[in-house]
Amino acid sequence: MKVQRRNNRVEEKVKRGWEGQRERGKERERERERRERKERKNVLPILATTIAAVSTTMSPSPPPPPIIMAKMTTALSLLAIFFIITTSALNNEELVEQECPVDCHCHYFRVNWVTDCSDSNLTTIPYNELSHNVYVLDMNDNNIADISPFPESIKLRRLQMAHNQLTELTYESFAGLTYLLDADFSYNAITRVDPEAFRDSPGLITLELQHNPLDEVEEPFLNCRTLLYLDLNSCGIRHLNTRFFYNTTNLNKLDLSHNPLQKIEPGPFDHLTNLEYLKLNGCNLTYVSPEAFSHLENLRQLEIADNELKTLNWRSVLTPLVRLEHLDIRKTGITNLPGDAFAKNLYLLQLVLADNELWHLDVEDTLGHNLHSLQSLDLSNCNLQDRLSEEAFRNASKLRVLNLSGNPMFASDLTAVLRHLPKLHKLSLSNCSLRKLPDTFDVFEHLEELDISYNPLSDAFVSLLNPLSALEYLDMSYCGLGYVANNTFAQMTFLKQLILSGNELHTLEEGLFANLTRLESLELNNCDLKAPLDPKVFGDRQLTDIIELKLSGNPLMVPDEGSLLPTQLSKLEILDLSNCSILHLNKNMFATSNNLTQLNLSGNTISGVENLSFLKTLPRLEHIDLSNNNLRTINPKIFKANPRILSINLMGNPFICNCSIAETWDWAVQEKGDLHVLVGSQLANFETGSVKRRKNLSCAYDEETYRNMIDGNQSTANRKHYPSQFTPSRTWAKYVRESNCNRRS
Ligand SMILES: *[C@@H]1O[C@H](CO)[C@@H](O)[C@H](O)[C@H]1NC(C)=O
Ligand SMILES: *[C@@H]1O[C@H](CO)[C@@H](O)[C@H](O)[C@H]1NC(C)=O
Ligand SMILES: *[C@@H]1O[C@H](CO)[C@@H](O)[C@H](O)[C@H]1NC(C)=O
Ligand SMILES: *[C@@H]1O[C@H](CO)[C@@H](O)[C@H](O)[C@H]1NC(C)=O
Ligand SMILES: *[C@@H]1O[C@H](CO)[C@@H](O)[C@H](O)[C@H]1NC(C)=O
Ligand SMILES: *[C@@H]1O[C@H](CO)[C@@H](O)[C@H](O)[C@H]1NC(C)=O
Ligand SMILES: *[C@@H]1O[C@H](CO)[C@@H](O)[C@H](O)[C@H]1NC(C)=O
Ligand SMILES: *[C@@H]1O[C@H](CO)[C@@H](O)[C@H](O)[C@H]1NC(C)=O
Ligand SMILES: *[C@@H]1O[C@H](CO)[C@@H](O)[C@H](O)[C@H]1NC(C)=O
Ligand SMILES: *[C@@H]1O[C@H](CO)[C@@H](O)[C@H](O)[C@H]1NC(C)=O
Ligand SMILES: *[C@@H]1O[C@H](CO)[C@@H](O)[C@H](O)[C@H]1NC(C)=O
Ligand SMILES: *[C@@H]1O[C@H](CO)[C@@H](O)[C@H](O)[C@H]1NC(C)=O
Repeated sequence: MKVQRRNNRVEEKVKRGWEGQRERGKERERERERRERKERKNVLPILATTIAAVSTTMSPSPPPPPIIMAKMTTALSLLAIFFIITTSALNNEELVEQECPVDCHCHYFRVNWVTDCSDSNLTTIPYNELSHNVYVLDMNDNNIADISPFPESIKLRRLQMAHNQLTELTYESFAGLTYLLDADFSYNAITRVDPEAFRDSPGLITLELQHNPLDEVEEPFLNCRTLLYLDLNSCGIRHLNTRFFYNTTNLNKLDLSHNPLQKIEPGPFDHLTNLEYLKLNGCNLTYVSPEAFSHLENLRQLEIADNELKTLNWRSVLTPLVRLEHLDIRKTGITNLPGDAFAKNLYLLQLVLADNELWHLDVEDTLGHNLHSLQSLDLSNCNLQDRLSEEAFRNASKLRVLNLSGNPMFASDLTAVLRHLPKLHKLSLSNCSLRKLPDTFDVFEHLEELDISYNPLSDAFVSLLNPLSALEYLDMSYCGLGYVANNTFAQMTFLKQLILSGNELHTLEEGLFANLTRLESLELNNCDLKAPLDPKVFGDRQLTDIIELKLSGNPLMVPDEGSLLPTQLSKLEILDLSNCSILHLNKNMFATSNNLTQLNLSGNTISGVENLSFLKTLPRLEHIDLSNNNLRTINPKIFKANPRILSINLMGNPFICNCSIAETWDWAVQEKGDLHVLVGSQLANFETGSVKRRKNLSCAYDEETYRNMIDGNQSTANRKHYPSQFTPSRTWAKYVRESNCNRRS
């Protein structure tokens, strides 16, 4: 086994390249610090990353291998320490640039050095050019078939290898990766995984292998006691031997969905006594042995949807799962459930029975007897008709959330059933073919959320909604309403969010929202509105509390001069004007709503940066979506007056590949200190199970430039990887790498 040594020439070159950036380092560091402070609030999802950061930031000498934590609770207590350490480390120590391979883009994410070589048609990992401090190595979407050993002393924490051509995982490839925490090999052609592959990684927590054609395994699949999360979704697994999980006994989450398992025999899961989350969706299961789950006493969530389990003895299968809280048996072909199906699952809080033909279900018998703890029940699309008796929910006294969407129902049946659920907080009656509403809303003292969308409500129902004075959320979208009378919401003084989208309202009645004094969010997408809100809809109120307004898909007539919105909306922070056929925006368009932090202008026909001069009036802007417009160039200077900008979505515009793109890229990296500002410039995150290909920000060469380039123009001669001969289209990341613009660094 030969370990490759670092190459001096590369090191030299890399050093020279970064000399100029040192100066700016300090400024960027301050910016990063500010962001760090903000981001601490969101630290939980990136637990694994942050825990490891403790060791990176703490000591200059090589830290010990990451502490192995079997339980996340232990990890939580360390977070407090982490905060203190990072703060002081950030104040005292500058984040220095590290080595970066020629074909890759490198940057810091928080305090971690990310090397992004994704989507680069590479056939090998650029071992010689990697910094030994590389924290995340992103090799997604290349043509790599083999992994040679990594250089010694590399401190890699996360390895991304999704969408490559690997065929096996061997010990030799990962030998010495002492610090590895997370590894992703999804979407390869892996048939074999050496059980010892991660022997040298005593802290491995996450392993993603989804979408690989694994061969049948006769022995323990993997020896890795620390592993908490294993994703084996869509791996062609037909059979699990009884020792499959023998040496991964700490697993907390396991996804086996979409494997043609057909049956679950006793044995394989017996070693997973720590398992809390199990997914077996879409496994063509027809049988599950009553002993299959007999040792899963810690299981809290089971998803076994989309299987053929019509004849399953649910009671025996579920009996051992004494801590089960969440059960999803959507689309399992069941037509009925025995009265004692859930008799032993005393802590079941959430039950999803959706997409089953349950018109024979004796709701009263099954749910009435043994679901005393149940808080949420999903019976959507179950073809329930008149089978709900008056007594049906009598014993489900804790039920707060009920979903009856997609069941064709009669208002009169519903009226009877719902009378017994006065404590309901959330009710969904979407797509129930209701022409009238049930006359029962007077019993609901606590109803906070009501969804009656997608019902062909035509006649006057207004008076039936009237008693819902505690309502905070009302969805009346797509109900075929052409008119909403101005006393409809008169009593709903607690309403915070109102959705009226998809009704062809054309105009809104005078005084319609006059009594909605607490309204914060108003959604009026696709309502065929020609003018945005008339001040008269608010009665004589001078100011509203509305902070979010959605007007997507309306053929709005935008004024040539002056404000789009009335002064009543000056507290507005979030505005959606996507798909509104907007061509031109005058520079004072948002003058009355200059507190905007999020603006969506996606799907319009805006062309030319001059037409974005309204940006000068929005000092608090944080997010702007300009995707799917007609922009051909961009200039970072237009964001001068928006110092808080955190994300700019420019995807789906016909950008020309030219130096304005390199300039915008450099602006993001150097002035904003974070490439994530440009949405789609790189993978948005490395969340487990997420989509692995996300670089969608692209441009196309104009014809002449392109012709010169493929004729062997020198601008590309010093590049290892010549641009594709076939298409003039590039991701920004790729263009920036191959362009010869006069960069600032
Ligand atoms: C796998 O687990 C079994 C049972 O705990 C143990 O005897 C065996 O040594 C383990 N194998 C490895 C390679 O850790
Ligand atoms: C389940 O069976 C169907 C029909 O035989 C097949 O099309 C499908 O691919 C199978 N599912 C899996 C996960 O193999
Ligand atoms: C409600 O529960 C009680 C005791 O648990 C039982 O006697 C009664 O039959 C149940 N009612 C319904 C409608 O199932
Ligand atoms: C109700 O079920 C429908 C269809 O399954 C789903 O789209 C909707 O999100 C559910 N609503 C709630 C409140 O759970
Ligand atoms: C409404 O339910 C029908 C089946 O009853 C289904 O085909 C349709 O897609 C559903 N519509 C929506 C908007 O959910
Ligand atoms: C608006 O609310 C007030 C006070 O709650 C009430 O007196 C008035 O009648 C309501 N307006 C309408 C149109 O119902
Ligand atoms: C409701 O609209 C009518 C005209 O359509 C108007 O006369 C009346 O004042 C409005 N009511 C309120 C409370 O604004
Ligand atoms: C705009 O936001 C600032 C800071 O959040 C706030 O003080 C000010 O009152 C807001 N302006 C309006 C009109 O709501
Ligand atoms: C902007 O609107 C488009 C189209 O309606 C939508 O797809 C996109 O998610 C929205 N962007 C944001 C950031 O909400
Ligand atoms: C806007 O248009 C796009 C593309 O036609 C569509 O995907 C999106 O759903 C639309 N947005 C809304 C809110 O209707
Ligand atoms: C600004 O938008 C108008 C359409 O209103 C368009 O004619 C003009 O060309 C745009 N400006 C630039 C520089 O593209
Ligand atoms: C990727 O590399 C292969 C050869 O390794 C080459 O045939 C192919 O054209 C390259 N693709 C692109 C998009 O550069």
